[in-house]
Amino acid sequence: MTATQGKQDTSNDVMVELRNVNKWYGDFHVLKNINLQVSKGERIIICGPSGCGKSTLIRCMNRLEEHQKGDIIVSGVTLDDDLKRIDRVRRDIGMVFQQFNLFPHLTVMENCCLAPIWVQKKPRRDAEAIAMKYLERVQIADQASKFPGQLSGGQQQRVAIARSLCMNPSIMLFDEPTSALDPEMIKEVLDVMVDLAREGMTMLCVTHEMGFAKTVANRVLFMDAGEIIEENEPNEFFDNPQSDRTKLFLSQIL
Ligand SMILES: Nc1ncnc2c1ncn2[C@@H]1O[C@H](COP(=O)(O)OP(=O)(O)O)[C@@H](O)[C@H]1O
Ligand SMILES: [Mg+2]
Repeated sequence: MTATQGKQDTSNDVMVELRNVNKWYGDFHVLKNINLQVSKGERIIICGPSGCGKSTLIRCMNRLEEHQKGDIIVSGVTLDDDLKRIDRVRRDIGMVFQQFNLFPHLTVMENCCLAPIWVQKKPRRDAEAIAMKYLERVQIADQASKFPGQLSGGQQQRVAIARSLCMNPSIMLFDEPTSALDPEMIKEVLDVMVDLAREGMTMLCVTHEMGFAKTVANRVLFMDAGEIIEENEPNEFFDNPQSDRTKLFLSQIL
């Protein structure tokens, strides 16, 4: 481990911490004793077979799903039923989904300004200036007055990323952000995410884009059947997987 990586691991900088987290859907034990610490500036890739609990894990981090046992602490705030605390955590975490989730009846600009105006109570003019800054950053400013349905999938996903950034989050969660895209549009979205990573954003990303993982991740986690089976820095993870389940998974996707 390099000196810089070591520094990132100091506990003062912990942005997300999961301690013995367990979750059930009815009788189905979907997350089993998950322990994870995410330090400021880390870029963590989560991979694993379909249905192993990846989405559930990251959705628990902003309480889109609730866990039943263990602790989840985000930016020092423990997630429980307290709505004020949930609200605080959600303001600090941006999330990007596979299916973009833009409002179809609002323009790109309106999609980006909605939360800053209604949640952060920003004046419209300020919200629009911030939105423009991020739309420029994801190279889509020229589409600001269009509706999502008039854009390609790659463009919509870049808008979804810009929309999240408008809330100035300290952590970004991505749940298979390129899985719904045609192959030629994957790169334009990954490029935006690579830029974000280079600027120091703390990121957790569920993806099977292994080239991307090698470029940006400082850690790769492999999950299977609700457990974190293995984690490592990317080169070790890909070149020297330890568990048979990881080896099998990698042989299927690479
Ligand atoms: N709301 C739900 N109710 C019941 N079971 C669910 C629900 N959401 C997901 N599951 C199940 O939990 C498991 C993990 O789902 P998910 O976290 O979406 O996995 P992944 O993202 O790794 O594909 C799957 O078996 C899925 O069918
Ligand atoms: Mg999923």
